[in-house]
Amino acid sequence: MKKEILIALSIASILSAKDLDGKQVFETYCWGCHHQTAVAFGPPFNEIASKRTKDEIEAYIIEPKAMYKAFGYKRTVMTQFKLNNKEIDALSKYILSYKGK
Ligand code: HEC
Repeated sequence: MKKEILIALSIASILSAKDLDGKQVFETYCWGCHHQTAVAFGPPFNEIASKRTKDEIEAYIIEPKAMYKAFGYKRTVMTQFKLNNKEIDALSKYILSYKGK
């Protein structure tokens, strides 16, 4: 019995340690306004990736209202989401994977 519990626990920890799929997070929250390489309502990811760092991208996702002036926008219409650190990390990596594309 004890052994089975230990096995179940280790499987659960393997599953939760798995990296989130940035594409999936993007499709859930961002796809309505951003596309990977085409201009949509917001700028495309290849353009963002060419001019921003990982920290800048994450700061913008966390609080567009605090960042838009520094990014050169006159106003912001981007939705602010409540995302966890893993989701934000997966998103910024996904955006940066479009650098040069
Ligand atoms: C309601 C539409 C909308 C949604 C949803 C949205 N965005 Fe945006 N985003 C924009 C617009 C428009 C801009 C341009 C500036 C502004 O209005 O804030 C922008 C700007 C950005 C920027 C900064 C662009 C630059 O100049 O470098 C990043 C990074 C970004 N969005 C990432 C995301 C991510 C990641 C998501 C999903 C979690 C997301 N956005 C969801 C509309 C949206």
